[in-house]
Amino acid sequence: MFVPVSRPLLGKEETELVMDVMSRGEISGFSGSRIKEFETRFAEFCGTSHAVTVSSGTAALHLALATLRIGLGDEVLVSTFTNMATFFAVLYQGATPIPIDMEAHTLNMDPRLLEQKITPRTKAILPVHLFGHPVNMDPVLDVARRHNLFVIEDAAEAHGATYKGKRVGSLGDIGCFSFYANKIVTTGEGGMVTTNRPELAERARMLKSLAFGTENKFMHQDVGYNYRLTNLQAAVGVAQMGKIDDILRRKKEMAAYYLRELAGISAIQLPVEEPYASNVYWMFNIVLRGPLSGKRTAFMAALKERGVETREDFVPFNLQDIFIARGLTKPEDCPVANDISKDGLYLPSGTDISEPELAHVVASVREVVTALGVA
Ligand SMILES: Cc1ncc(COP(=O)(O)O)c(C=O)c1O
Repeated sequence: MFVPVSRPLLGKEETELVMDVMSRGEISGFSGSRIKEFETRFAEFCGTSHAVTVSSGTAALHLALATLRIGLGDEVLVSTFTNMATFFAVLYQGATPIPIDMEAHTLNMDPRLLEQKITPRTKAILPVHLFGHPVNMDPVLDVARRHNLFVIEDAAEAHGATYKGKRVGSLGDIGCFSFYANKIVTTGEGGMVTTNRPELAERARMLKSLAFGTENKFMHQDVGYNYRLTNLQAAVGVAQMGKIDDILRRKKEMAAYYLRELAGISAIQLPVEEPYASNVYWMFNIVLRGPLSGKRTAFMAALKERGVETREDFVPFNLQDIFIARGLTKPEDCPVANDISKDGLYLPSGTDISEPELAHVVASVREVVTALGVA
């Protein structure tokens, strides 16, 4: 048996909608109705008044920063423990990212560390809802309000997660989503910007499509980007929105199985679901603790031998050689991230993972824990 880390849930609905737009030649980011339909359904799903499709999650983050006119000399407070796309987007704008260390249990930005990093140049906070668990947003929003900062949510991994009953992507000024193949909703590649502010939606829409003029198309309104999602991809997105409840239910079931079956292994730190949160468990992430700490390479290799694919956690911003070399950060900036990230990995978490596959993963984990000499 081989159990991959992730597999998308695709069916005949996606194929039919793609063939439909293909047969009518409506394939670009300008043509066709599926883009509008995808945006409307996604906004409704998030509880925002606006959603703007883009070509990737990275494009969504960059567009959010450009829309808010964050640029040279500005500072943005970012969760250090994330896909580096979050940091790249800040750097594309010439702004300076300031890494914020994480909470050891949720793996998200620790809001208690924000205030001490604020300077007269700080313009925004960029929390990341990692692995499907929402950030503790009230303290983040409170700091933002008191210091007049924008809040951009990186919700690339958390479609449908809620904070105190509200969906992520609707909590700050702008929300950013990814639809890469392993995400909760996928269009192969793709992304979305969500907001409740019409003027931001309008500016994002203008910038994402080369900032074309309104009267004379080729008299441009600004320096724009081509971040358009195609109608072909939007067709996949519309089909995916039809199964989002099913996808979220499957993720919960997958997590419930792992949580139940792995609960007895004290050397494995399992994901949490804080009282304020509904975790959508994009990936089921574990951290090797105590006697397993420092044994990640052997742990992953032994699982691979048993046909269980895993992936090591992100390397935090403060440990990235390219950023240390530029003087943007140093390892000791975020001690919690250093401790967790070296021992973290995720287990197979595909939306269509079957019960026999889950049983195989659990049995393999138990065997490997024993083989590594941990009771
Ligand atoms: C937290 C986070 N932010 C941003 C991105 C970038 O999204 P994309 O790959 O669609 O550009 C990803 C994933 O790929 C991610 O996990």
